[in-house]
Amino acid sequence: MYDIVRISGDGIGPEITDSVCRILETAKVQINWIDARAGEAVFNETGNPLPDETIEAIKKYRLVLKGPLTTPVGAGFRSINVALRQKFDLYSNIRPAKSVPNVDSNFRGVDLVMFRENTQGLYIGKEHWVDEEKTHAESIAVVTEGASEKIITAAFEYAKKYNRKKVTLVHKANILKLTTGLFLKVGQRVAKDYPDIEFQDLIVDNMAMQMVINPSQFDVIVTTNLFGDILSDLASGLVGGLGVTGAANIGDDAAMFEAVHGSAPDIAGQNKANPIAMLFSALMMLEHLGEHRIAEKIRSAVYAVLQDHKVDCTKDIGGEGTTKSFTDAVCNILKD
Ligand code: NAI
Ligand code: MG
Repeated sequence: MYDIVRISGDGIGPEITDSVCRILETAKVQINWIDARAGEAVFNETGNPLPDETIEAIKKYRLVLKGPLTTPVGAGFRSINVALRQKFDLYSNIRPAKSVPNVDSNFRGVDLVMFRENTQGLYIGKEHWVDEEKTHAESIAVVTEGASEKIITAAFEYAKKYNRKKVTLVHKANILKLTTGLFLKVGQRVAKDYPDIEFQDLIVDNMAMQMVINPSQFDVIVTTNLFGDILSDLASGLVGGLGVTGAANIGDDAAMFEAVHGSAPDIAGQNKANPIAMLFSALMMLEHLGEHRIAEKIRSAVYAVLQDHKVDCTKDIGGEGTTKSFTDAVCNILKD
């Protein structure tokens, strides 16, 4: 029995969390859920988007399945996602993008895994106004040797463990010579410890083009926070969108699993949300726990629904169904 903190989140969060938990239960995964709150809904009720009880629960159990959280744009409280990643030093943001059966996309055979540094870069939130009139803003990017080494080593270790052939490091060291230059230098050094894995570095703008022209040339990708944020959504777009890509945030002693997409307020509460992305995140959680067999069983059930019962899937991936009809279809297969 695993103790896992569950944060259902805002918008479509509760619907897709229900769906995922029902599927895990049907697959007989033994989980004791510890419910905790974060995000806009609890902020509106209590004035605090990240209650102390939630932090305490994560400190205690160290494993979190999290729905999307709404972050106010431009003003208001800081992103709770970013805060959690920094607080628990969840330095690896891992986002696989793998083609799934029978989902429309411009490419087939994409199977890449993006490692995004999750705690530094431009996302540390150190922004200030230079003048009183607020016509001039500045933002600070931080890159350290230590954090770079951790994420790059995590990418190589993953490549080694899962028999991947190549690691591509993405940077902009021609312009941002100190920050991403340091990241590149560390990468070149770490790569020497993995002689069996091909190492390549690419400048981010070229990378964006290469990913769109020929994504199957990539295997494992590692990059800094902002580039990783943008390129990982691009990667999702290569395999059918945010509705089908999971993600993990992993540190040395805590891990949080969440979908790549946001809280989708435009469709919240309408039984339209696609739970696959959050489900795939939950499968990454099972793999993290060593439960590979059961994760594979659930993934096969999802593929079978995509292949043979497409009408039951949600509209964003070309189905005619709902959150519930998809969930029922997966559970029916798992029950057999
Ligand atoms: P979004 O990902 O919520 O939505 C973008 C579009 O994709 C919308 O049209 C939405 O309906 C659709 N969509 C997203 N997930 C879907 C799903 N599972 N099934 C079907 N359709 C889906 O991005 P948006 O609108 O930019 O952000 C909304 C809120 O979410 C913001 O407050 C943002 O800060 C937050 N957000 C939170 C994240 C997290 O908690 N990890 C990540 C990204 C955004
Ligand atoms: Mg993002």
